Amino acid sequence: MVHFAQRPRPRRNRKSDAIRAACRETTFGPEHFIYPLFIHAAQHDVPIASMPGCARLSPAGLLAEVEQARAVGVKMIALFPAIAEELKEPHGRESFNPDGLIPRTVATLKARWPDLMLVTDVALDPYSCDGHDGIVAADGRILNDETIEVLCKQAVAQARAGADIIAPSDMMDGRVGAIRDALDAEGFTEVSILAYTAKYASSFYGPFREALDSAPRHGDKKTYQMDPANAREALREVALDEAEGADMIMIKPAGAYLDVIALVRQATALPVAAYQVSGEYAMLKAAGERGWIDERKAALECLTAIRRAGADVILTYYARQAAQWLQGG
Ligand code: PBG
Repeated sequence: MVHFAQRPRPRRNRKSDAIRAACRETTFGPEHFIYPLFIHAAQHDVPIASMPGCARLSPAGLLAEVEQARAVGVKMIALFPAIAEELKEPHGRESFNPDGLIPRTVATLKARWPDLMLVTDVALDPYSCDGHDGIVAADGRILNDETIEVLCKQAVAQARAGADIIAPSDMMDGRVGAIRDALDAEGFTEVSILAYTAKYASSFYGPFREALDSAPRHGDKKTYQMDPANAREALREVALDEAEGADMIMIKPAGAYLDVIALVRQATALPVAAYQVSGEYAMLKAAGERGWIDERKAALECLTAIRRAGADVILTYYARQAAQWLQGG
């Protein structure tokens, strides 16, 4: 046996579970998760083919899912509504109906679990027959300032119903400041804004659009969502959302944008969230189902990577499952 002079040996810090645990730089638990859930008004749950384990939940199905998520420590959820086709029109007016699906659901959940943190999405796509996040002009342009007026009404309706955190996902310019003003004017100074700050025009949203039947009917979202090729531009969005009063900022998607998460982490003192989106979930599920990867290990590795890159909070469809896994279940 040849003993060569190798004094520094990084493997010493990997030699046992206990040492590895002591030296671990990144940890996380269910307290870091926001669990996105799809809801609809129908009385039965409808599974989403491209997102195994997820469904459009009925009111009863939602209560059961939240109950189970809470049992493993998940205390924050985000709601996404599948709206009946006949309620969709170009201005997305159903988005601010005080008796709409989201306000009704928020009120029910808050009455049952006052400590549950409810995140509600602000954007028009689930409510618009055009499937865009904003109002579409006759020539196909997405109207920024006209859209913001509707978004403000939507945010106020959600806050009035009891939402804790308003999450504008539309990427219109100036909407964070406008929504902050609208909330404050109505006395909702304690309602937070989680801004989708760097939301990319990504191909990883496909399964989500299937889940909500919300795909754009014409064109794409490239005139408002960011170009996947850009990282510096994210810093510009961060500066604006911070100045406009965002309480947390988000990068979306997560897995293919870890560099952006790390960059933004350096640039802001605000909590940073990252959204592991539907396509990321679908890939892990699909490969896991085929036995090509170990789904549990791969999913936890992806979540670790998102935290390591600098995210405080992770929106993930794995929230309940990962919380169970972390408990050893
Ligand atoms: C739309 C919205 C989208 C997602 C969240 N809010 C889709 C889109 O921008 O087209 C995607 C989430 C996911 O894919 O999991 N306002």
